[in-house]
Amino acid sequence: MINGINDGFKRRPAFLPFSPPQIGEEEIAEVVDTLKSGWITTGPKVKRFEEEFAEFVGAPAALAVNSATSALAIALAVHGIRPGDEVITTSMTFCSTAHVIEQAGATPVLVDVEPDTLNININQVKKAITENTRAILPVHLYGHPCEMDKLQETASRFNLKIIEDAAHALPASYKGRRIGGQGSTAAFSFYATKNITTGEGGMLTGENEFIKQARVWSLHGMSGDAHQRNSKEGTWKYDVVLPGFKSNMTDIQAAMGLHQLRRLPSFQARRQEVVRRYNSAFANMAQLQPPVERNGISSAWHLYVIRLNLDTIDIDRDVFIAELRKMNVGTSVHFIPLYFHTHFRNRYGYKADDYPVATSNFNRIITLPLHPGLTDEDVDYVIAAIKYLLECHSKT
Ligand SMILES: Cc1ncc(COP(=O)(O)O)c(C=O)c1O
Repeated sequence: MINGINDGFKRRPAFLPFSPPQIGEEEIAEVVDTLKSGWITTGPKVKRFEEEFAEFVGAPAALAVNSATSALAIALAVHGIRPGDEVITTSMTFCSTAHVIEQAGATPVLVDVEPDTLNININQVKKAITENTRAILPVHLYGHPCEMDKLQETASRFNLKIIEDAAHALPASYKGRRIGGQGSTAAFSFYATKNITTGEGGMLTGENEFIKQARVWSLHGMSGDAHQRNSKEGTWKYDVVLPGFKSNMTDIQAAMGLHQLRRLPSFQARRQEVVRRYNSAFANMAQLQPPVERNGISSAWHLYVIRLNLDTIDIDRDVFIAELRKMNVGTSVHFIPLYFHTHFRNRYGYKADDYPVATSNFNRIITLPLHPGLTDEDVDYVIAAIKYLLECHSKT
């Protein structure tokens, strides 16, 4: 039916991607400057990016790395997570949240989510704690912070570490404090679709001593200022003190990051405007549920995820997405719950029935286009396309 949009809907000519990167002339000039500087790997721009990022989120210190996945892996290593340990995390996340736990030799214990935010459910966390539990790895899903007070209270009662997966959470706040400045360690992502990007990249925040150790883990376990060894002030001598990773960020990436960070407030203002426009268009609609923002929270609005009320329409989520695509609206699904993937099902025997909230919501979620480059016309087009489809497929 939508092919050709014959009836009453004028299809826009260009495809609308759900989250393209926003690269400006400043980023390009700074990257070129780096390329010409003779110093392209970890150097002065990484150091500046780390300092400015730590200050921005209110963290004592920060370590720039090549991905959020690396940041999480390093955090687990610094906390000494090892074989036999269990780390509790959410079932509704990207696979790398759980992979890093497995790569440390530990077991990812998946729990169900809260119905409104789809964030990790603290009551399920409490039920999953055993004598082998060492850490909780909450994910601030879609940029909406988890209930940090409750998580911290449980963590301190059971002597557990908290490692926040903050891949989506720049710049989110919980009770007036930025994520990254909550006292525990947090891992941010600068992947191409994130609120700021360095192409690939990540940042780990935490206490000074924690980040000092993390820095050693991030570069082959080499002590001291080993990564400066090729500079005039450096020395060829180094000592390897642990079996580290190769996860350092380059100055080329930091060159982008420095300018992306400066532009973040204006990116964010536009994201919030787009969200307001979506929210007011979707309020009180019987066929879908818009996302929430709880009291005391400022979401990073990394992703705008609606949920279809499937009993009101005669198509399923997948057909809805296919039809939106034909109308040149790019969407996605975040996420396929981990227990639906072959690996997690086969290795741990996780079953969909054990996660009623994640399972019942998975079939309903659609991620809409959300980025600072959207014009009001783009947003109105997405809204019109969705309303049109819902009307065409309404059961009543
Ligand atoms: C929730 C979550 N955690 C971790 C990651 C991994 O981030 P990166 O690609 O920077 O390793 C992602 C990536 O999209 C993610 O969505």
